[in-house]
Amino acid sequence: MGDNGAGNGISRRKFLKGFGTGMVGSTVILNSLGAATKEEKEQMREYLQNAEPLTLTVNGKKHRLMVEARTTLAEVLRNHLQLTGTKIVCNQGECGGCTVLLDGMAIYSCHLLALDAAGKSVTTIEGLLTGEELHPLQEAFVEKDGLQCGFCTPGQIMAAKELLAKNPKPTRKEIQHGMAGNICRCAAYPKIIESVEYAAGVSNSK
Ligand code: FES
Ligand code: FES
Repeated sequence: MGDNGAGNGISRRKFLKGFGTGMVGSTVILNSLGAATKEEKEQMREYLQNAEPLTLTVNGKKHRLMVEARTTLAEVLRNHLQLTGTKIVCNQGECGGCTVLLDGMAIYSCHLLALDAAGKSVTTIEGLLTGEELHPLQEAFVEKDGLQCGFCTPGQIMAAKELLAKNPKPTRKEIQHGMAGNICRCAAYPKIIESVEYAAGVSNSK
């Protein structure tokens, strides 16, 4: 995973977490770090010099963050917002493991700069839950064994979410086509397709 980081002297996660809580002004951030050492504060000041404000709605919740221009949406989701359901697998727009919805459209979040998502609405796998309750698509993947290691599963489910939103009763071919951007190294494809069919309530699986 790429590092958009804060240097070596402070936990990267702790550092980035500070920018995922609604703090935007650099003075506010630096003042809030009373317990940080001088060196840590210096690292943060340096980070902030290269960071830009970003407003993003994720799973219905608005976030105001400070991110470096090179930070991808996937990195923001995982490192700033701790939404680790989105997986970074190839990190180069080839496998679909990092698929999320951007204004309802399935995209590779590792392949989009976070600043390019400014003002948009992002849905991640966590956003499909209603409290502790799984979304019917998530249930379908469990019910029909649409996963083996499960690493590609969040991306598969988000791709299926877009597919079924556009085409609630797809044929098997349409499902195969719609899911073509998502690779599963375990080759659980038959079960993945079956899971999407099951979720769609498709009985005629031609
Ligand atoms: S991790 Fe984004 S496409 Fe593979
Ligand atoms: S279930 Fe293992 S990569 Fe898809």
